[in-house]
Amino acid sequence: MQILVLGGGGREHALSWAIARSPRCSQVFCVPGNGGTQAVAPSFPLDVTDHRAVVAACEARSIDLVVVGPEQPLVDGLADALRAAGIAVFGPDAAPAQLEGSKSFAKEFMARHGIPTAAYDVFDDGEALIAHLASCPVPVVVKADGLAGGKGVLICMDRAEAVAAGQAMAREHRFGAAGARVVVEEFMEGEEASLLALVDGETVVVLPPLQDHKRRFDGDEGPNTGGMGAYSPVPAMTQGLIDQAVREVLEPAARGLVADGTPYRGVLYAGLMLTSTGPRVVEFNCRFGDPECQPLILALTSDLLPLLDATARGVLADQPLPSVRDGAVCCVVMVSGGYPGSYPKGMTISGIPVDDEDVVVFHAGTRLDEGDLVTSGGRVLGVTARGDSFAQARSRAYDVVRMIQWEGAAFREDIGWRALQGETTQ
Ligand code: AMP
Ligand code: GLY
Repeated sequence: MQILVLGGGGREHALSWAIARSPRCSQVFCVPGNGGTQAVAPSFPLDVTDHRAVVAACEARSIDLVVVGPEQPLVDGLADALRAAGIAVFGPDAAPAQLEGSKSFAKEFMARHGIPTAAYDVFDDGEALIAHLASCPVPVVVKADGLAGGKGVLICMDRAEAVAAGQAMAREHRFGAAGARVVVEEFMEGEEASLLALVDGETVVVLPPLQDHKRRFDGDEGPNTGGMGAYSPVPAMTQGLIDQAVREVLEPAARGLVADGTPYRGVLYAGLMLTSTGPRVVEFNCRFGDPECQPLILALTSDLLPLLDATARGVLADQPLPSVRDGAVCCVVMVSGGYPGSYPKGMTISGIPVDDEDVVVFHAGTRLDEGDLVTSGGRVLGVTARGDSFAQARSRAYDVVRMIQWEGAAFREDIGWRALQGETTQ
């Protein structure tokens, strides 16, 4: 098979790496890719926002399957365009991708299909929003409706923060068009976990649960980022809770999408809060997480390609269930100094060891500059390791992290502290 992976982050490096190892893969391309994807998946020039150009490129290169990494092209209808041209694509159409593209859509969908989530109100009028936030119960969570790169959520612990959030959304237009409509949510307490499933119509194939660290600094402090690390398994997410989340969240979501006439084909990512009343949805994403995808791929022992292909073709139910290695996986993200604020680019990276069976360095913001590997983004590398225990996976990852250098390189020292605690108290 000839496969095209779209995207240029760590997630897409991991997907390309796994696909390239499949006996069914004759060639995989990764577009635009990054400094690491080229070793497994060459790139070629292509404007992904031009859907006709993507279809034409797939036809010219006899692509059998397109795997779309990020959410924006899916929300923009790239999968619809490819399907209309008869090209198999892993990733939902624009209509079901609204589960990520619009928080009010997702909330209304969950309310209609009885999926547990926080109580909510939707505001299109800025003054009504401000008035509501002046008197609603606190803590409260204020969310820009549209895609805001994970930054459009304000957690307000007291009245002053709630009022300020209202001002930021309605008067300062801090999130631009994404904040023209605002969802105000009940604050949920608990530990967070991510549960991803391959979904093809009503067929749901759940993958191992993960946790990520969104905050930049140790102790889960500081600004939100795209993700500083991720790992699996999740001690708090027992098999009982996984089964409950499949039954109460993922299966009703898949069935609901079919009932609404917008069946899903791709990976559905449920961000869950493990509350005292059970798992409740914080958000849905219509794609693999980044960096969650990197440890997930190292945890799978099954060939990923037939699973992606069967999902894309609507025959996922015929596939054997994916098998997962015993033990644990851990990904530590290395970032540019200054991230998530402004940071320099073009720093020369050195010290990356050759991958082995247990540790793989997935690239994100890297670029080859006349043979030299240099930084080109905020999140630069995802050092991903597996082990018999979480402690072993984690120390293997950090051993490699400490070998890698560039000017300003930074990372969190405490990835997986919850899992480590869970393991030592078992
Ligand atoms: P989202 O982009 O919707 O996933 O929100 C980003 C982060 O905000 C989540 O990972 C949670 O940590 C937090 N969050 C979002 N909604 C809630 C909520 N209703 N209650 C508590 N925390 C929330
Ligand atoms: N790491 C969070 C996400 O991909 O949404």
